[in-house]
Amino acid sequence: MNFLELAKTRYSVRGYLPKAVEPEKLRYILECGRVAPTGVNAQPQRILVVQTPEGMEKMAKATGIPELYHAPMAIIICVEPECAWTRKYDGHNIHEIDATIVTDHMILAATEQGLGTLWMCRFKPEIIRSEFNIPEKYVPVNVLLVGYPDPEALYKAPDRHDAEGMRKPLDETVSYEIF
Ligand SMILES: Cc1cc2nc3c(=O)[nH]c(=O)nc-3n(C[C@H](O)[C@H](O)[C@H](O)COP(=O)(O)O)c2cc1C
Repeated sequence: MNFLELAKTRYSVRGYLPKAVEPEKLRYILECGRVAPTGVNAQPQRILVVQTPEGMEKMAKATGIPELYHAPMAIIICVEPECAWTRKYDGHNIHEIDATIVTDHMILAATEQGLGTLWMCRFKPEIIRSEFNIPEKYVPVNVLLVGYPDPEALYKAPDRHDAEGMRKPLDETVSYEIF
């Protein structure tokens, strides 16, 4: 599978089979996140893996989605802004960018392994913090659901990236030389 095929295979999975993610696949996903680039190689991320039923109940509470599409596992991508690089010209701290490239590496790794994912920013940060004892200095940026896609679930068609209106054409989002 070339990169474009992999990118088009990924889609937001909102329905999972009751099947655990194999430890070696989880390890592979985490390793792909580990080698992701971060600004000045600061590696400010901290990754929290949640895979017990009790943990997934806490995730359901934090997201407000009962049963959380039956996902067997969630990965919370946290980051420590104080460790991340800050651009001196305008004081912009890049912690969310760092967390996000790590997240995307893991998403594509999971896709390559035949797994589905759902990237979620819709969660209550304070509930995530309190339920999982996340120290104040870390920011939970992204939540990733990971598991085997349920073929019966809604929104399953991976080829919908090319469906009419699903993605803007390149000429709407790319320009050359002058914005
Ligand atoms: C930064 C980010 C945050 C997202 N947060 C959520 C979320 O909280 N809940 C959800 O159901 N989908 C979420 N999504 C999934 C998007 O809705 C989805 O990627 C988009 O509609 C395109 O569909 P596709 O992923 O199937 O290609 C998020 C995606 C991104 C990139």
